[in-house]
Amino acid sequence: MPSRLRPGWHSSLFLMIFMKQTNHPMHRNKKIIVVVAFLFAAGSSFAQKAQTPLLKVIDTALQKAADQYKYMAANIAPAVLPRNYNPLTKKSETSNSGWWCSGFYPGTLNYLYENSHDNALWTEATRTEKLLEKEQFNKGTHDLGFMMFCSFGNANRLMPTAAYEEILMNSAKSLSTRFNPTVGCIQSWGATAKWKFPVIIDNMMNLELLFWATKHSGDSSFYKIAVTHANTTMKNHYRPDYSSWHVVDYDPATGNVNVKQTAQGYADYSAWARGQSWGLYGYTVMYRSTKDVKYLQHANRIANYLMTHPNMPADKIPFWDYNSPEIPATYRDASAASIMASALLELSKYADAKKSQSYIAFAEKVIRELATRAYTAPIGENGGFILKHSTGHLPGNSEVDVALTYADYYYVEAMMRYKAMKGKKG
Ligand code: GLY
Repeated sequence: MPSRLRPGWHSSLFLMIFMKQTNHPMHRNKKIIVVVAFLFAAGSSFAQKAQTPLLKVIDTALQKAADQYKYMAANIAPAVLPRNYNPLTKKSETSNSGWWCSGFYPGTLNYLYENSHDNALWTEATRTEKLLEKEQFNKGTHDLGFMMFCSFGNANRLMPTAAYEEILMNSAKSLSTRFNPTVGCIQSWGATAKWKFPVIIDNMMNLELLFWATKHSGDSSFYKIAVTHANTTMKNHYRPDYSSWHVVDYDPATGNVNVKQTAQGYADYSAWARGQSWGLYGYTVMYRSTKDVKYLQHANRIANYLMTHPNMPADKIPFWDYNSPEIPATYRDASAASIMASALLELSKYADAKKSQSYIAFAEKVIRELATRAYTAPIGENGGFILKHSTGHLPGNSEVDVALTYADYYYVEAMMRYKAMKGKKG
């Protein structure tokens, strides 16, 4: 409702004078109810007008996030990386450097350092990046983009060194070994009895590392792999409504699609929430890196699918799967929300003015919601994680309604992007 049409204090006052002066025949109790209702409306109108500016909300949230991560740093064992915190069991899980999420903790610290210039954050990022270094030679995972680009990629963006560059180049080379030119994709997971050459939508997130490698080295092979992977994925992972399957399994000898299924979603046909956010983010990066308009169109269409989805809640924090039959009595996924917000802010830079405005407004709503007590944990609680209420793998009964490193990472990234867009870079 436009603000000028909202009942305000002046209309309440007018109503009271009106009722008194005209000796309105309404029963006294009814009169009181009407007046109280108008005063309530006036109060909420005032509250809406007085909403704290988002940049201020973000500054507070980033400061709290830095304090929370310092608490995390003080409590984590030296040889491991944070992974999750379960509020029901009050237990944290950690991981070694080979887990796909190992780069998010140092990556978040890098962003928080960028915002505050607090050296303690940089020192902790550097310490944990040391644990990750050996993964540059890991050819057994497609997650090297997550692991190495969120950590070393950000470190190198802030303070470039030859050592970081070498690690990133080796990581890109390792990732490229998983590309099969017959399929036209990087293999996500290893072959099993069920799948021969599974590719998951999440894999779109690992391509940014390859674009960096071509830019840095001049070797176009990384760029070509990224573009081929994205084109194959656009063709085979996406449905006519621009939602995506989670897993597409290929025959590595012919490149034919064997089967399209889910691993972490509700059903093969469903729209697993985080997967949709990964795709949105991935095709936004594709447009940024290639300027090929077909990727921009694709990202816009995914954004439209998400933003207009009938199961998108009013507060814009998605349920874990858009097709869960238990909606609304099921879990949210704060990680899907933070990835989506960060992606929409970036996409708003490339989209036309109308779309751009709607992407920013949507992302603003997500950030504002995540910054509330409903999602942000008090400092010293939640195992040191910033956000609550993410869902990792519900069908596997793993990491349900917990804190997760990547929810924190993309939330902090979204806030940094918002600040940068408004010319308030930390
Ligand atoms: N890449 C795994 C996930 O999003 O859960």
